Amino acid sequence: MEFQLKQCQAATEKTGTVIVAVSGKELSPSARELDAASDGQIAHALKGAGFEGKPGQIQMFYALPGIAAEQVLVVGTGELKELDSRGLQRAAAAAVKALAKAPRKAVSFLAELDVKGLDLNERIGDIVRASLEGSYRFDEFKSRKSPAKGLEQLTVAVPDKAAASAGKKALAWGQAVARGINRARDLGNQPPNICHPTYVAEQAKLLGKTHDKTLDVKVLGEADMKKLGMGAFLAVSHGSEQEGKLVIMEYKGGKKSEAPVVLVGKGITFDTGGISLKPGAGMDEMKYDMCGAAAVLGVMAALAESGLPVNVVGVMACAENMPSGRATRPGDIVTTLSGQTVEILNTDAEGRLVLCDALTYISRYKPAVVIDIATLTGACVVALGKVVSGLFTPSDDLAAELLEAGQRSGDRTWRMPVLADYQEALDSPFADIANISTAGPGGGAITAACFLARFTKDYTWAHLDIAGVAWNSGANKSATGRPVPLLMQYLKQRVEC
Ligand code: BES
Ligand code: MN
Ligand code: ZN
Repeated sequence: MEFQLKQCQAATEKTGTVIVAVSGKELSPSARELDAASDGQIAHALKGAGFEGKPGQIQMFYALPGIAAEQVLVVGTGELKELDSRGLQRAAAAAVKALAKAPRKAVSFLAELDVKGLDLNERIGDIVRASLEGSYRFDEFKSRKSPAKGLEQLTVAVPDKAAASAGKKALAWGQAVARGINRARDLGNQPPNICHPTYVAEQAKLLGKTHDKTLDVKVLGEADMKKLGMGAFLAVSHGSEQEGKLVIMEYKGGKKSEAPVVLVGKGITFDTGGISLKPGAGMDEMKYDMCGAAAVLGVMAALAESGLPVNVVGVMACAENMPSGRATRPGDIVTTLSGQTVEILNTDAEGRLVLCDALTYISRYKPAVVIDIATLTGACVVALGKVVSGLFTPSDDLAAELLEAGQRSGDRTWRMPVLADYQEALDSPFADIANISTAGPGGGAITAACFLARFTKDYTWAHLDIAGVAWNSGANKSATGRPVPLLMQYLKQRVEC
């Protein structure tokens, strides 16, 4: 899909579709203009159709008198005073989805909406981003692809020429973020027989080749990790025929002297649970257990495309968690790269094992901030559902920045405690630490974060548990690409201040 910005009028614009909003009962300025030009046809028909302007609700009008466009698409946003970034994106995505089989060109008048906390450029960025997200499809493995080609060109209408030229950067930003999101979704949706650790590493290398001036990619295999002493990581990858890989991507967009932000993603390309085998129902969804790593790759792609002036190191800790004769047993004790020993009581708590060694490894970068991203616990889904990700950090400042980035990007997060009182639950009679709480399942997302906290004392750190938000289940199951938007917004905020 191609994007452009243009100053234009809804009633006279010759195009396939004009997209306008209705917020609750209130017609947007352009919707009112269309209504006036068509002698009140829009308001009249909306009333008849019982259209209430609810978020994402849509109504199409064909060949209205007095209107130059072939058709008009009205999209609901919910009450205007409650409209935020998330709501604007929902409307833009719903519009694009509704136009999959329509004329190939459309002009969107959604940027005129008054959205809480967003200026015009941010609204442009959100519309572009959501439109690209809304047109995402994953049909690589379908013999018969959908014949609908989708929108070819979307013009975002702006009030004047100055806004059109000022908005170009926002447009490019929205595009870069959306491509990063869709890239993360592609990786997440790949089946686990194809998307194994080596495949993920190859994807990173390809990305590095495309952006060889700003992106360096390095891959450590199991022999390298053994030499380093990454006993916890290897305890997970050992049971699999697929070799575990630690993928390191260095994006150099900022000053040489500037300490990097380090992102560490959990990349379990399939999580059977290992010897602590998971129940069979829905186990296929554990192909998404690499969505933390996919988000890191998506962020690196978006950074390279946007050229954001920051230094970021992206690390993907990739392994497959399988039961086999070589697999780790419950009761095994391993030595982590940090020197701390871990008694592995449950091989299904594998994410923290690959992450703890990766988190120790990256201290060599003397990071300004470290954020790990992981589909870490079912307990986080129980606590927060699929709306917000779990944010765990001892730093109030970092928490505030990430919470703000979540609000502004519509990819929200919610702070959870990492109090010392929870640490006792991880005591082991035999090793320095157990890999699961011995006090039962209560607070499972927190005790998982507390495990990681023992390996992140040398720097400012946050952990995002994305087990709930990384994919949608059910008939239309698919990776969401979250939290690429949150992380990109956070990095942008760092540059702006
Ligand atoms: N990948 C899972 C967490 C998960 C579960 C994500 C369901 C999304 C949906 C993780 O490796 C895991 O198995 N965690 C265990 C930890 C437990 C053994 C302490 C869990 O959540 O049950
Ligand atoms: Mn597991
Ligand atoms: Zn897992």
